[in-house]
Amino acid sequence: MLLVKELSVKGERIFITGGAGFIGSRLGRALTALGAEVTVYDNLHPQVHGDNPDINFPMRLIKGDIRDREFLAQAIHDVLPTVVIHLAAETGTGQSADEPSRYCDVNVVGTGYLIEILRAMQCPLRRFILAATRAVYGEGAYIDAMGRMVIAPPRKTEAMARGLFDITDEQGKPLTAIATPENMPPAPGSVYGSTKLMQEYLIQQTPAPWEYIILRLQNVYGPGQSLRNPYTGVLSIFCQQALAGKTLNIYEDGAIIRDFVFVDDVVSAFVSACQVATANGEVINIGTGHRASIADAAQLILTKLELTDQNYNITGEFRAGDIRHALADISLAQNFLQWSPKMSFENGIQALVDWAKSEEGINAG
Ligand SMILES: NC(=O)c1ccc[n+]([C@@H]2O[C@H](COP(=O)([O-])OP(=O)(O)OC[C@H]3O[C@@H](n4cnc5c(N)ncnc54)[C@H](O)[C@@H]3O)[C@@H](O)[C@H]2O)c1
Repeated sequence: MLLVKELSVKGERIFITGGAGFIGSRLGRALTALGAEVTVYDNLHPQVHGDNPDINFPMRLIKGDIRDREFLAQAIHDVLPTVVIHLAAETGTGQSADEPSRYCDVNVVGTGYLIEILRAMQCPLRRFILAATRAVYGEGAYIDAMGRMVIAPPRKTEAMARGLFDITDEQGKPLTAIATPENMPPAPGSVYGSTKLMQEYLIQQTPAPWEYIILRLQNVYGPGQSLRNPYTGVLSIFCQQALAGKTLNIYEDGAIIRDFVFVDDVVSAFVSACQVATANGEVINIGTGHRASIADAAQLILTKLELTDQNYNITGEFRAGDIRHALADISLAQNFLQWSPKMSFENGIQALVDWAKSEEGINAG
């Protein structure tokens, strides 16, 4: 076991792009509580925050767009950050197929601007931490009948139209999903995943004086995830729909698998990434290593809301590009960050449901 967590964040000037969002706002609070001076740079994207956002947190907020190069440069020169945590992004997998240029602009070009501005800064940054994603793996790791690890090929639309959702090899033989390690060659299946992979490449391939750590997050859920953004956060969307009395429509046969990780566990992974002494240049999965099917997750939400499973419907419909199975191998996170998730799925869903109910009450009142 490596000895890590040697650096204190007390007094560090931490600049969080996208820090008004779901993960960033909780992370900013946690770092502030540890004595860091946190500045949030965020354009308060209406898709996430609505038209009249009511932002209330102890961090300094600079409202600006990652694509506004001059304004971003001004903000960074004003703050002179010692740590940058880059979260600002367009995050909708389905939406990215319809708006590839916007996704490239924000996720790729925006990251390019950020790196160029930081390179021109007089006092060097200590560390750059990127919020990356499991979407870079596409279908991720599988094993074949011989026990060999393989990258699963993308699913064929014709097969899915016939209700064949599970992954097979090119000959149609079944493959078995396993936890995906970080050294699996990336094979994103969406524009979103490709732009997020490009962020990783920009950080890895631009010579710079700072250390970097890339955290590939699985599906993050919990209180604070936008209930109005229809493009991300399946569990928040389910909560919002269930509270509105709608039926939850579940794609495929309900057996899509995700590794849902609670937001506060993700926050503690980022805090560790600020504190560790020895993870420079590492790409690290952040998940739980536990599988949950979408149908089971929906059922749990309905149970916690005291609704019945008549409120959900497995439709057999599918979306091209959807990943069948996502599960993280989290051994590197345990080694490099001395991190492991603490929240059980059941308690995490309870926290999400309680929060969604209180938000619904506020909006209704
Ligand atoms: N939530 C997840 O399940 C998940 C999973 C994997 C990776 N990630 C990554 O984590 C990061 C944060 O995700 P989140 O769930 O907190 O999303 P979020 O949408 O809640 O937060 C993103 C924030 O970025 C801001 N933003 C968007 N476009 C911007 C722009 N052009 N300029 C400045 N700010 C902009 C938004 O206003 C928002 O506050 C993203 O980079 C995302 O790709 C999230």
